[in-house]
Amino acid sequence: MKTTVFLSAAFATAAYAQNASTFVNPAVPTGQPIPGNYSGGLRPQVHYSPPQFFMNDPNGLFVDADGTYHLYYQYNPTGIGAGNQHWGHATSRDLYHWENQQIALFPPEESVFVFSGSAVVDVNNTSGFFPNQTNGVVAMFTLARYYPNAAGPQTQNIAYSHDGGYTFQLYNGNPVVNSSSTQFRDPKVIWYEEYWVAVIAYSQEFAVGIFTSPDLKHWTFASNFSYHGLLGAQYECPNLVKLPVRDSRGAVTSEAYVMTVSLQPGAPLGGSITEYFPGDFNGTHFIPFDAATRLTDFAKDNYAAQYFYGVPDREDAISIGWASNWQYAQQVPTGNLEGWRSAMTAPRANYLQNTTRLGLTMINKLVDPAPVLDVRLNATTFGNSSLSLDFSHVVSNALYIEANVTGLNTSLVSGGATLNLTFTSPSSGESLRSGFFFGGDNPFWIDRGLVRGFDNIFFTDKFSAANIYGGSGSLSGDGLASWRMQALFDRSICEWFADGGVHAATVLFYPTQPLTTVSLASQALPPGSTVSVAIWSLKSAWAPYANEQGTVLGNVSSSGGGAAGSKRHMIYEGSFSS
Ligand SMILES: *[C@@H]1O[C@H](CO)[C@@H](O)[C@H](O)[C@H]1NC(C)=O
Ligand SMILES: *[C@@H]1O[C@H](CO)[C@@H](O)[C@H](O)[C@H]1NC(C)=O
Ligand SMILES: *[C@@H]1O[C@H](CO)[C@@H](O)[C@H](O)[C@H]1NC(C)=O
Ligand SMILES: *[C@@H]1O[C@H](CO)[C@@H](O)[C@H](O)[C@H]1NC(C)=O
Ligand SMILES: *[C@@H]1O[C@H](CO)[C@@H](O)[C@H](O)[C@H]1NC(C)=O
Ligand SMILES: *[C@@H]1O[C@H](CO)[C@@H](O)[C@H](O)[C@H]1NC(C)=O
Ligand SMILES: *[C@@H]1O[C@H](CO)[C@@H](O)[C@H](O)[C@H]1NC(C)=O
Ligand SMILES: *[C@@H]1O[C@H](CO)[C@@H](O)[C@H](O)[C@H]1NC(C)=O
Ligand SMILES: *[C@@H]1O[C@H](CO)[C@@H](O)[C@H](O)[C@H]1NC(C)=O
Ligand SMILES: *[C@@H]1O[C@H](CO)[C@@H](O)[C@H](O)[C@H]1NC(C)=O
Ligand SMILES: *[C@@H]1O[C@H](CO)[C@@H](O)[C@H](O)[C@H]1NC(C)=O
Ligand SMILES: *[C@@H]1O[C@H](CO)[C@@H](O)[C@H](O)[C@H]1NC(C)=O
Repeated sequence: MKTTVFLSAAFATAAYAQNASTFVNPAVPTGQPIPGNYSGGLRPQVHYSPPQFFMNDPNGLFVDADGTYHLYYQYNPTGIGAGNQHWGHATSRDLYHWENQQIALFPPEESVFVFSGSAVVDVNNTSGFFPNQTNGVVAMFTLARYYPNAAGPQTQNIAYSHDGGYTFQLYNGNPVVNSSSTQFRDPKVIWYEEYWVAVIAYSQEFAVGIFTSPDLKHWTFASNFSYHGLLGAQYECPNLVKLPVRDSRGAVTSEAYVMTVSLQPGAPLGGSITEYFPGDFNGTHFIPFDAATRLTDFAKDNYAAQYFYGVPDREDAISIGWASNWQYAQQVPTGNLEGWRSAMTAPRANYLQNTTRLGLTMINKLVDPAPVLDVRLNATTFGNSSLSLDFSHVVSNALYIEANVTGLNTSLVSGGATLNLTFTSPSSGESLRSGFFFGGDNPFWIDRGLVRGFDNIFFTDKFSAANIYGGSGSLSGDGLASWRMQALFDRSICEWFADGGVHAATVLFYPTQPLTTVSLASQALPPGSTVSVAIWSLKSAWAPYANEQGTVLGNVSSSGGGAAGSKRHMIYEGSFSS
């Protein structure tokens, strides 16, 4: 039955005897990574950011058979604003330490940009590109043509890599999905039982097209997923991903699919955001379980997340998003001050959980930050109290914080019961604040309005989520609730995770002076409540790769994943096991 979707394959011809050419702008270096200076005061130390210039969407995320994670990204290697799109590339063994690689994808012509897309490992040589290997990589992406005064068509194309994803060759039979539309983009490919499936956005028609292919070269339209959820002004970067469904004890009880759609512009808070729909996918059609629209993040700086190809079934998916928003991505001060713009979010492990009141919710759990934990600066337990810690000696200016509140008798919680987490600069008085109100609607809130290094009308300063007790199954049998908060603070980006990722927020902030004091304070918690706190300093994930001049060169071996790559991997593993 499934073979019926491949009828059109018979009509296509596979003509790629010679290689398609690429255009290399003389200003864009080939063969070696662009060097980076990761020491600037706003430069994240445990998040990925490009060595220089402008980055946006994560692309082509896959994990190879050796356990190396590949992150490609929309990259302008010649400027600090969007444009001149290539695929930058970095690799990691632990999702926190990233080694920069040479630019992986170049356009075929000067007037064409390489837009977003995805990558898969063609382990069975379905494409025929890989006669003698099981680690061949095929990337599928949009090529966007530009005329002097107008946008040209956006078509879907592929490129193949014989060296595990370090260098690619454009397929001579491109495009593999043709179009005359100027708004058709961002293919994300997955493997479904016995064929490939791609989801591609018809951006301004609010449709995600689902296509199938036996070989990554010949694609057949299967169905549309149209007009679901918030529309904004465009749909972009769709993903279709199979996730485990876990019960409240964490056991995998089943699996379900999630369709994600990124909206830009027109998010509820302005600009860019990502919505998702849990549902059934039968190989050609995606049907959401309910009519609800759910968002992956309750702040404003997490867009176009992609899910790694190659994570085994029944394991949590792993995703990384672009930690910015098109409303101000090209204005943030890191461009003029430090020559780079945009970081990726920290990696998240994703699964579905039936949160009783909200239905199936996609959990965004911070991937264990153990590889970058340094010194536990404080670990303490209190009821109603506070703790304040000067971390100006922490060279990375990065922290990981956990606070677990247990034994909460919810029937005794008053409106004034709060737990706050605040980061302050004693010299400038700036602060980044957050907190939880245990009573009422249980809002969890974040305020970046007292940080003053970036003035922009769209740089919304306050965010909040309604956090419902029991929503994550945290109400214990004796009626005592617990609540958990984690924060990953990293110079100019902070991510919060409530209840292990039932709610998550990614927030950029640009202080004029580093924030170097952290405080946690609780008040009016009912008797019997306990706050258990741990604060860790973080090791810079970039410092180990800097030379004596402080420059991070990345993998400069010309053969991509060669000997230097292995040497670097030893450094990763050393820090991973510590
Ligand atoms: C195509 O490119 C690959 C990889 O760069 C190279 O090994 C091969 O020789 C090229 N083939 C032709 C026909 O140019
Ligand atoms: C790297 O950036 C820092 C901070 O902006 C600066 O002090 C340092 O001189 C730079 N290093 C190099 C090699 O340019
Ligand atoms: C590869 O082939 C095996 C054996 O036929 C099959 O089970 C698997 O689904 C295939 N996977 C891919 C990605 O082609
Ligand atoms: C891979 O595909 C090509 C083209 O179909 C074919 O010539 C080659 O024999 C295949 N290799 C393997 C190992 O299946
Ligand atoms: C693949 O292996 C076969 C058999 O060893 C060999 O004849 C052929 O040249 C190889 N092809 C490539 C592209 O390496
Ligand atoms: C793709 O579609 C355009 C517009 O319909 C057409 O001009 C072009 O010839 C097509 N290209 C291929 C390779 O079919
Ligand atoms: C799918 O959606 C696209 C974009 O709106 C549209 O052009 C196409 O006709 C739709 N296909 C079907 C079968 O509805
Ligand atoms: C997939 O679902 C669609 C829509 O419900 C249905 O038309 C189609 O027959 C289903 N395909 C299979 C293989 O079950
Ligand atoms: C979630 O749990 C509720 C309450 O037990 C149940 O009614 C509902 O069907 C479940 N939803 C899913 C999608 O499993
Ligand atoms: C942690 O902070 C509390 C409150 O300031 C203090 O009493 C305690 O000694 C600190 N613990 C450690 C291990 O530094
Ligand atoms: C936390 O901050 C909120 C908002 O400013 C405030 O109402 C509350 O009193 C604070 N709680 C503590 C313990 O400082
Ligand atoms: C918070 O709870 C989690 C999950 O039970 C546990 O792993 C972690 O160690 C706790 N942290 C603190 C500071 O108590």
